[in-house]
Amino acid sequence: MTDAPPEPTDAERITALVAEVGLLQRRLDAVKEIGTALGSTLNLDRVLGLIIEKICLLMDAERAAVFLLDEARGELWTRIAGIEDVVRLGIGEGLAGWVAKTGQRLNVKDAYKDARFTGELDRRTGFRTTSLLCQPIRNPRRKIIGVVQVLNKRAGYFTLDDEALLTAIAGHAAVTIESNKLYLDVVHRNMQLEEARDALQRRVDEIDLLYRVEQEMNRAVGLETFLGFLLRHVLATLPSELAVLALSQGNRLRTYTLVEDKRSDAGAVEPTVTDITPGGLLGTTVATGVSRVTSDFRAEPLEAELVPLLASAPSSALVVPLELNGERLGALLLCNRRSPTFDAAEELKVLTLLAGRAEAAVVLHRDREELLKAERLAAIGRALSGVVHDLKNPMTVIGGYSQLMVEAEEKTLRQRYADGVKKQLLTLKSMSQEVLSFARGDSSLLLRKVFVSDFLRELEESLRPEFEGGPALELIPAYGGAVRMDTGKMTRVALNLARNAREALDAARPSRGDPGKFVLRADHDAGRQEVIFTFQDDGPGIPETIRDHLFDPFVTSGKRDGTGLGLAIVKKIVEEHRGTVEVDSTPGSGTTFRIRLPAEAPATRPPAAP
Ligand SMILES: Nc1ncnc2c1ncn2[C@@H]1O[C@H](COP(=O)(O)OP(=O)(O)OP(=O)(O)O)[C@@H](O)[C@H]1O
Ligand SMILES: [Mg+2]
Repeated sequence: MTDAPPEPTDAERITALVAEVGLLQRRLDAVKEIGTALGSTLNLDRVLGLIIEKICLLMDAERAAVFLLDEARGELWTRIAGIEDVVRLGIGEGLAGWVAKTGQRLNVKDAYKDARFTGELDRRTGFRTTSLLCQPIRNPRRKIIGVVQVLNKRAGYFTLDDEALLTAIAGHAAVTIESNKLYLDVVHRNMQLEEARDALQRRVDEIDLLYRVEQEMNRAVGLETFLGFLLRHVLATLPSELAVLALSQGNRLRTYTLVEDKRSDAGAVEPTVTDITPGGLLGTTVATGVSRVTSDFRAEPLEAELVPLLASAPSSALVVPLELNGERLGALLLCNRRSPTFDAAEELKVLTLLAGRAEAAVVLHRDREELLKAERLAAIGRALSGVVHDLKNPMTVIGGYSQLMVEAEEKTLRQRYADGVKKQLLTLKSMSQEVLSFARGDSSLLLRKVFVSDFLRELEESLRPEFEGGPALELIPAYGGAVRMDTGKMTRVALNLARNAREALDAARPSRGDPGKFVLRADHDAGRQEVIFTFQDDGPGIPETIRDHLFDPFVTSGKRDGTGLGLAIVKKIVEEHRGTVEVDSTPGSGTTFRIRLPAEAPATRPPAAP
C-alpha cells in the first residue's frame, strides 16, 4: 500500500493554477497570433511555414508538417526541409495517408510500433520519429483538404490539450488554404480576362482600322488615292521604314512606295509610283503567293530599285501576297520594322487584313473601269443616231459645193467652193474625234452640236409625265440656235432641277392651295456668246440654312429621302461643259436656277447658188 500523495498546500495550488492559466493564456495568444499571421499573407509557402513554426513552438515538438490534398492526382503533397522536391504520399499510405483516408485523428506514442508507419521519410531525412499527432484539415464544408502532423513531443507524449490545440490550428489553416486557393483562382481568372480583353481590343482595333479603310475605299475617287491612304495606314499601324504595294503589270510590277516621314505625325507623304522588275522578295511573293517574315536578305534580296529608298540596310521584312479567286494581283511589303515587340504572326495577320482591302480596291477599280467603259459604249450607242444626224448637215453642204464646183467655170469661184468643202471636212473630222476621245475615256462628255429647240422638245417629253396632275409646266425656246453639249448629261441636269422644283411645290401645296408653276426657258446672250437655260418656280424658296453650301454633296433639307446629291451633280456637269450655274431664291416667292453654256457659232446652211 502506497502512501497517498500529500495534499498540496493552498499556496502550491495557487501556483499550479497560475501556471496553468499562464499556459492557457500563452496558447490562446499563440492561436490568435497564428490566425493574424495567416490572415496577413496569401503566399501559400509562407502560410505553411508559419503554421509549422508556430505548431512546433506551441506544442514543444521537434517537427511539424502540413500535407495538402492534390485532388487531381489523388495524393498528398508537402515540402520537407532537407528534401529538394515536393514530397508526395498516396492516400492511405503511411500515417498521414491513413488520416487523410479515414478522416480520423491519430495520436501515437511510438510510430515505429504502428504497422501503418512506413518510416520512408525518416530514411530520406535521417530524422527519427517517436511520438506523432496527426489531424485532418477540413474546409468549412467539412471536406478534407489536407493533413497536419506534429512529431516528437520533447517532454512525454501529445496530450488531449495538444489535440484540442491542433484542431484549432487546423481550422485556421483550412480557412487560409482555401482563401489562398480562391485568391489564386481569382488571379488566374483575372489574367485570363486580361488576356481576353487584350485580344478583344486587338480585334476591335483591327475592325476599326478595316472600317476606316473601307470607308475610305468607298470615298476615294481613284485607285491611287486609295492605295496612298492604305499605305499611310499600314505605316501608322505597323511602324516601319518603308511600305510597298506592288501590282502585277504583265511582267513588271507597278509599285506604290511610301517612306516613313519622321517629321510629320501623319506618318508619311504621298506614295511614289514606279514600275520595277520583279526578281527579289516582292517578285517571289507574287509568284508563289506565300507570305513570309524574313531578315535574311542574302537568301532573299530586296528588289534592287527598292534598296536606295531605305536609309539603312534592310534588316527585316514582312510581305503578304495580294490575290483574288486564285489570280495573283501583287504583294504588300513592309521593310525595317520599328516596333520593339516583334510578334511576327500577329503582324502578318494585320498586314494580310490590310492586303485584303487592297485586293478589294483593285478589283472594285477594275469593275468600275469596266462599268464606265460599258456605260460609255451605251452612251455612244444612244448618241450615234444623233451623231449620224449631225453628220448629214456637213455632208449636205459638201454635196452642195461639189455640185456647184462641177458647174463653176471660173477658177476663183471653184477655189471658194473648195475652201467651203475643206471647212466642212474639218467639222466632220472634229466630230469624229470627239466621239473617239469619249470612247477612249479621254473626255467625260460626249459633246454634240444640238439645236436648243430640239433639246427642249425632247425634255418636254420626259417631263410631261412627271408633272401630270401637279404644277403647271411651261417650256419656252426663246432661242432656237445651237449649243455644244452632252445631251444625256444635260438632260440629267434639267431633270434634277425640275424634280427639285416639283418636290418643293408639292410640299407647299397644302398651305398655298394651288399647285404652282415651273418654267424652263432658253435664251441667247449674244454679247457673251452664251446660251442661258432658266429653271424657274414660284415655290417656297430654298431654306436659308442650306443656301450657302447648296451645291455641296449631301446637303439636303425637308425631304425624307433626299440624298443631297442632285445639285452637286448639276454643278459638276455644268462645269464640265465650261458653263456656270447660279441660283436666285426668295422665301415664299420662288427659286430660279440659271445655267450658262458657251453657244455654238450660228449653224452653217448649205450655200445658195451665186
Ligand atoms: N426649287 C427648289 N425650291 C426649294 N428648295 C429647293 C429647290 N431646289 C433644291 N432645294 C433645296 O435644296 C436641297 C438640295 O437639293 P438637292 O437636289 O441637292 O438634294 P435633294 O433633292 O435633297 O436630294 P436628291 O439627291 O434626291 O436630289 C433640297 O433638299 C431642297 O431643300
Ligand atoms: Mg434633288
